[in-house]
Amino acid sequence: MTATIGLRCLRCDAPYGPLDYARDCARCKQDAPSNLVVDYGESALIARPNRDTLKGSGLWRYGDLLPISHDEAISLGEGGSPLHHLTSIGRSLGVEALFAKDETRNPTASFKDRLACIAVSVAKKIGATAIVSSSTGNAGAAAAAYAAKAGLPCIIFTAKNAVGPLLTQMRAYDADVVAVANKADRWPLMQRAVQDFGWFPTSPFFGPVVGSNPYGIEGYKTLAYEIAEQNNWQVPDYCVLPVCYGDALIGMWRGFKEMLALGWIDRLPRMMAAEIYGSLGAALQSGSDALPDMPNTHDTIAKSTSATRSTYQALHVLRQSGGAATTVSNEAILTWQLKLAKTEGLFVEPAAAGAIAAVAQFIESGHIKKNDVVVALLTASGLKDVDAVVPALKPLITFDGDADTLFSQLNDRPLAGSSQDMRKITSGRP
Ligand SMILES: Cc1ncc(COP(=O)(O)O)c(C=O)c1O
Ligand SMILES: [Zn+2]
Repeated sequence: MTATIGLRCLRCDAPYGPLDYARDCARCKQDAPSNLVVDYGESALIARPNRDTLKGSGLWRYGDLLPISHDEAISLGEGGSPLHHLTSIGRSLGVEALFAKDETRNPTASFKDRLACIAVSVAKKIGATAIVSSSTGNAGAAAAAYAAKAGLPCIIFTAKNAVGPLLTQMRAYDADVVAVANKADRWPLMQRAVQDFGWFPTSPFFGPVVGSNPYGIEGYKTLAYEIAEQNNWQVPDYCVLPVCYGDALIGMWRGFKEMLALGWIDRLPRMMAAEIYGSLGAALQSGSDALPDMPNTHDTIAKSTSATRSTYQALHVLRQSGGAATTVSNEAILTWQLKLAKTEGLFVEPAAAGAIAAVAQFIESGHIKKNDVVVALLTASGLKDVDAVVPALKPLITFDGDADTLFSQLNDRPLAGSSQDMRKITSGRP
């Protein structure tokens, strides 16, 4: 664990106290609302953790760089996710070194466990009486799981049209889930929960959103540490993320910057965003620090990243890293969601597939070149939301008792990756 000295504004550096996690920067508010980030002063560098003596597994392998110690943590075995080489998709796109960080492998099957783990651990440590989250999905499920483990009640304000399996997941962890007809109506409820009752917010709780709990965001630094270590401390040229409020984007960026300061790595990657409605792209173009709220042009299948306005923290990372943003359509998301499942064996949520759709677009636009090393973040499991993908799948075969008809039907189907001859051999038929 690294001792914190408080929080500070990401945009103007104004200092805040360690318990000011439930606010944005007063100085920046009128101009361009900004999130606060955890401030360690020089202590992270003074301690100088050594990359060659890292111990343990998962997120806690990097515990020396987190704001809470492993002993005090509420842990479910988060982090330590595999980095897959996407050989088939990489080849088809002409970029051999394409990798995917498989965050479906976390305890609640999404990357949000890294955030929820640190946020709920801090909440428990400071004596919070309840966890509260505004979430249509993964953030709520993760908060609910860690709250359950911590023995804290969890209240989630969600949208009426939230995806079924995610609601079930939140409720299974025994959270109180409140469905609100209009998404914006969640803010006054959240504000009351935080300001009047002192419940600990792991998610955004006022609009315009500046991002999630600054302590929770620190958990995402471990994505950067893991990617670097899994790549033998070589830094990818590009990290491509599905982005909504940019918590993971700023967390990862902070992780890479810390490693550079510690001498663990020798350069920084470009951070790239897959977004739905184009708020970041518009701000990059206009040069403004205030994110525009974009028109809701279509009903996206990427429900987890469907906010029409992004945040300054996300914009800051794209600018600092020399990155870019691209919008991904339903068609592109579905195409890559199916390719990931069919050719790489990875079934991910539509929002996550947006990262690969974006890689394809960044190659097309000339940002990503053939020899670049690219890491895409696959943020959540496909089992969380199956509605969009089901109509695009092969029909289910029903067995009516006639095995001969069944096997001749199966042998007539084109088998992926097999030649006609191979099929005859495997079927054992002449
Ligand atoms: C599956 C998935 N991918 C991506 C995101 C975007 O995350 P962030 O808010 O950190 O940009 C979310 C949540 O918002 C999500 O649930
Ligand atoms: Zn500020």
